[in-house]
Amino acid sequence: MLTRINHIGIAVNSLDESIPFYRDSLGMTFLGWEEVTEQKVKVAFLQVGESKIELLEPTSPESPIAKFLEKNGPGIHHIAYEVADIETAIKKLEFEGLRMIDAAPRNGAHGAKIAFLHPKSSGGVLTELCQSGH
Ligand code: CO
Repeated sequence: MLTRINHIGIAVNSLDESIPFYRDSLGMTFLGWEEVTEQKVKVAFLQVGESKIELLEPTSPESPIAKFLEKNGPGIHHIAYEVADIETAIKKLEFEGLRMIDAAPRNGAHGAKIAFLHPKSSGGVLTELCQSGH
């Protein structure tokens, strides 16, 4: 069902202050950034081999990322696995008795379709399914 780690999501206070570490010090390829209004975040992507790092900066105090930063400070927020067919993957997990935060896919960055599992069903690791938008 899962084909690779699509990306690791990292909560940051500022994209501008965080990007140089990943791009310049670690030498990752910066792929660009965009705002995902639905989730009240600005998202930057950096390529690492076949996977990406997703930096998430909140654009509003009501953003889930703002709440995460308040509680935990900057750091790893979620792991996203690539799936070929997100609807089928959600159905399979629900059939297994797992809880989803998103029972229906929503729009992520780069035209991807994404859905989060409930942390209670994923051992406390916020887990995202991601069907790339290419
Ligand atoms: Co993500």
